[in-house]
Amino acid sequence: MSDDDEAVTNPSHNPHISDIVEQRLRDPKRRALLRGGTGMAALSFIGSSSALLAACGGDDDPAPVPAPAPGPAPAPPPPPPPPPAGPARPAALGFNAVAKSVADSVALAAGYSSSVLFRLGDPMAAGVPAYMNNGMDSAASFAQRAGDHHDAIQYFGLSATGTFSATSSDRGLLVQNHEAITPAFLHPAGPTIVAGARTVADEVLREFYVHGVSIIEVQKTAGAWSYKQDSTFNRRVHTLTVTELAGPARGAAQMSTKFSPGGTQTRGTVNNCAHGYTPWYTYLACEENWAGYFRRVTATDNPNRTAKEITSFTRYGVGGNGRELWATFTPDTADNLYGRWNTEVLGATAVADYRNVSNTYGWNVEIDPFNPTAAPKKRTAMGRIAHEGAWAARAVVGKPVVFYMGCDSRNEYIYKYVSTALWDAADATRGMAAGDKYLDAGKLYVARFNADGTGQWLELTFGVGSVTAANVAYPFADQVDVALNSRLAADAQGATKMDRPEWGAVDPLNGDIYMTLTNNNATLRTLASTDAANPRHYNDPRTTGTAQRGNPNGHIIRWRETSPEVLNFTWDIFLFGARSTITDPNINVSALTADNDFSSPDGLWFSPATNICWVETDDGAYTDVTNCMLLAALPGGVGDGGVRTITSTDALGATKQTQTYVAAPQGAKLRRFLVGPKDCEITGITETPDGATLFVNVQHPGEDTPVAVIGDPTMFTSHWPDGGTARPRSATIVITKNGSGPIGV
Ligand code: FEO
Ligand code: CA
Ligand code: CA
Repeated sequence: MSDDDEAVTNPSHNPHISDIVEQRLRDPKRRALLRGGTGMAALSFIGSSSALLAACGGDDDPAPVPAPAPGPAPAPPPPPPPPPAGPARPAALGFNAVAKSVADSVALAAGYSSSVLFRLGDPMAAGVPAYMNNGMDSAASFAQRAGDHHDAIQYFGLSATGTFSATSSDRGLLVQNHEAITPAFLHPAGPTIVAGARTVADEVLREFYVHGVSIIEVQKTAGAWSYKQDSTFNRRVHTLTVTELAGPARGAAQMSTKFSPGGTQTRGTVNNCAHGYTPWYTYLACEENWAGYFRRVTATDNPNRTAKEITSFTRYGVGGNGRELWATFTPDTADNLYGRWNTEVLGATAVADYRNVSNTYGWNVEIDPFNPTAAPKKRTAMGRIAHEGAWAARAVVGKPVVFYMGCDSRNEYIYKYVSTALWDAADATRGMAAGDKYLDAGKLYVARFNADGTGQWLELTFGVGSVTAANVAYPFADQVDVALNSRLAADAQGATKMDRPEWGAVDPLNGDIYMTLTNNNATLRTLASTDAANPRHYNDPRTTGTAQRGNPNGHIIRWRETSPEVLNFTWDIFLFGARSTITDPNINVSALTADNDFSSPDGLWFSPATNICWVETDDGAYTDVTNCMLLAALPGGVGDGGVRTITSTDALGATKQTQTYVAAPQGAKLRRFLVGPKDCEITGITETPDGATLFVNVQHPGEDTPVAVIGDPTMFTSHWPDGGTARPRSATIVITKNGSGPIGV
């Protein structure tokens, strides 16, 4: 997904931390209590807030609290759980940093090599012809070709008998998402649109197929990786694949459509961004910015809707013509190939149209790569948000199975799912049946990050807290209503608005959970709304174009829980993106250098083989200096740094101090490993169990090429990976160390 195309639909008055502070300080009794001293946490709370009040020119408080010195660090975080058997984190990275680059090529650290494995359009079945890459490949053939916009990717070792192998490093299944499309390069001359409507059926069908998920068998022969074009494991899941609805919303009236009157099925999945993989070796394809695909013209549809329906549509951003205009094609087919993307009230009842179809999107979709005939299942107990991905905590026998999830839009939230069933290691071989057990019944929580370095998981269960029928903004009816409207439930419980959550990752050594917060802008992260967990508002001085204010370079937050099912945590900020030419420690907080400066962290992953933390970028801010990149880091753990006060400055010169908690500087333990070609995002990363082969996705090279110049290849911004005058293609690359060995160490 390009860096800034996520709609922002959180109008809630849910407070940022600073709002809570200000509100509390206006209460004379609370001020007196705080002055009397209620512990270090309370003092540090005041420290940042009073600075805020001063910076904002005061408020209506008759007796402002004087600003004390910044408070001390919070209580030390709990000790991490005992590490599993396995390698320790290396003391140093085993490569020298690669320089930033704006070249149309993959630049790698010295001593490593890459090759292209699997590109947009590559055939995935016997008899499918090679991709012509001129927009003329038949639409139907895309049901058996690689999709576009390669995103999250996961390697599953494949045994000789076709089952999961934890040790197979030369044969496996690669499962990956195809998030979106670059329409300019898919068709002869971009999408054909006449009077606001799609008019070429083949073009629309092609787009239906290139979204979704692909599964390919890959193998290493004589040291070289290839995918097996005719493997019986090869599979495409796309927007037409029949998909089961599972969990609390299965069979609900809100899921009923003409396609599935009983509300038990839907067709397909779309905008699958990041992913998850389960302790039972299945894959979760997470539906991110699904809302934009549906047509719903609010002026004509709103009068046919209840107030609650309109609130829900608005909160999720379901309104407009649909980003690819799929529902505008006429005539429709008998099975509503095009009309099923229209989520308006058109017929007499819900079973006569697709008014509810958008309710069947926004979920995590479980797929068993080892069982090509098993229908994907949308796991509705895990909530309905702009699901970036779902990352499992380390599974512990006798404890719930836990997933951490981000909702990818600016000012959205971080969630956690805790299964009702307790983990039984015997379920590791049960595939989708294990999914039924652990993913269809559980509790959903949302994160609140406190100013004192602690946090809470707030329960999103009907009847708990403000998630009730008495909730004014959205009166909840039952748990189905909560599952369908998780964002609204999170608003009601007071979650913390974050600087756009992207990937998460769990440190295999100590269980710390990391999540990228890719960036935010000046409108949505104002100076006043900076808070401890989202503490920066500044100008990133692009050498070309206009000023970029807010938190344009993003940061990576992390937290520690004593056990995955507990409801409190301690947190700090691992890294802040910035350009290294900035020396102001309020902006370049992590003291990044030319060897490791980056912007807009997105992909995030810990290698189980080496324990390296890999960071990928999807950036539009630092692109005046460099293309997107992959970096390697060797973190310590939550609490290894200390308290910092960050002074933010807005466009008018007003300042605000915000106290936060910052990890120990990474220094040489953070290094750039790879830089991608022009206009790409580096996303998706996985490796073989021996750590010797890394698979990385290069998404949408050349995506800024205007449709208007499609006839003139000299105007393409990228020709990667095929070179010459070729149209660019998203692709998976394979990275190995020259002479072999684990990557990065
Ligand atoms: Fe698709 Fe969250 O990036
Ligand atoms: Ca992104
Ligand atoms: Ca992403």
